[in-house]
Amino acid sequence: MDELTRAICAARDAADPLAPLRAHFDLDAADARGEIYLDGNSLGPLPRATGERVWQVLHDEWGRDLIRSWNTAGWITLSQRIGDKIARLVGAGPGELVVADSTSVNLYKVLAAAMSLAAAAAPATRRTIVSERTNFPTDLYIADTAAKERGFSLALVDADDLPTAINDTTAIVMLTHVNYRTGRMHDMAAVTKAAHAAGALVVWDLAHSAGAVPVSLSGDGTPGSAADFAVGCGYKYLNGGPGAPAFVWVHPAHTARMDAEGWRQPLAGWLGHAAPFAFTTDYQPGAGITRFICGTPPVLSLAALECGVNTMLAAESFGGMAAVRQKSLALTDLFLALVAFRCAGYGLTPVTPDEHARRGSQASLAHPTGGYPMMQALIARGVIGDFRAPDILRFGFTPLYTRYVDVWDAVDRLAQVLESGEWREARFAVRAAVT
Ligand SMILES: Cc1ncc(COP(=O)(O)O)c(C=O)c1O
Repeated sequence: MDELTRAICAARDAADPLAPLRAHFDLDAADARGEIYLDGNSLGPLPRATGERVWQVLHDEWGRDLIRSWNTAGWITLSQRIGDKIARLVGAGPGELVVADSTSVNLYKVLAAAMSLAAAAAPATRRTIVSERTNFPTDLYIADTAAKERGFSLALVDADDLPTAINDTTAIVMLTHVNYRTGRMHDMAAVTKAAHAAGALVVWDLAHSAGAVPVSLSGDGTPGSAADFAVGCGYKYLNGGPGAPAFVWVHPAHTARMDAEGWRQPLAGWLGHAAPFAFTTDYQPGAGITRFICGTPPVLSLAALECGVNTMLAAESFGGMAAVRQKSLALTDLFLALVAFRCAGYGLTPVTPDEHARRGSQASLAHPTGGYPMMQALIARGVIGDFRAPDILRFGFTPLYTRYVDVWDAVDRLAQVLESGEWREARFAVRAAVT
């Protein structure tokens, strides 16, 4: 480790095939302040194209062209257009994925769909939704609520116990592919196949996966490996801006069946109708994934999201998700190695798996005192990560703009925070509403 110098990191940056993509982001203010942004797993930074595009939508499409822009600027099909772009990042086909609502709301819709399929296909003994105890809270709250509404129940287990927990009482396995706290990643195809072998459906939350790691919702080519349902987030690795709309995907075999049976999702709004502008009294679901749209799309937010998704698609000319994954692993390897070397003896324990196949695009460190003041002290030194209660310092690594020298500098400053003990100052213990 002695030989791993900042100069070596700078040389890696000089040889990095993805390096030109950093110019797609407006990190000027952060750079001027000497800040290192390691929180793109929570809120992606502003793409340079977004301001102009949103202004164009405001000024030209809304301001000048007014309501005709629903047709002339294609506002009415934005959800599908951006959905097709995101589909390329998660191994789904065109027409299979739409952007709508939030991840929480989309999860409610797909869980309702999965419960309907399970109720139609299986005996009343199969009424359990299995999930991970440490899944993101919104997933658990939504699943618990939706399950209780339909006579299902939610069973929470530790990730290691999943293989035994999935059995002939399991209707649905609902998991987040990459755990928000630990960064631990499930083997999507293997878990999906195990669930299918047990007769269950699978719902994946891709909030920490889309744009972060390679994902193939259509499976790995082996029987039973294609997922059933997926939802995901627009404001993290897709750089869509704060509160960006989310996405929803359903396997085409399920939407074909929904088409045949006229199945409607529980939030059957007018823009998920087959003919919204027929203004009929009766609801007729739109074909395929369209039925998962509910109300009027947030056009300004969608314009920003499209710019964010375009930053990810720009990587396609530089090696695509394979290159992104390779650099992501190199960045997290470097971070974990430098932390082990520079920060030993201060009680920080990595909770992100060493094994590449189990690691997402973040690195998390646990600390017995909690770690919140440490993260605040680090932020004061210009390294922006975040804190996840009760004890996790979380760092996101986003290969489109994170440099190897950023990793070196971040750990250098973390070491200074620890060595100086400055994190014990009272000002760093003051909790903000968002951590
Ligand atoms: C795994 C996961 N699911 C869902 C969400 C949030 O969903 P929503 O956009 O509905 O707030 C998050 C937010 O961080 C998340 O980490």
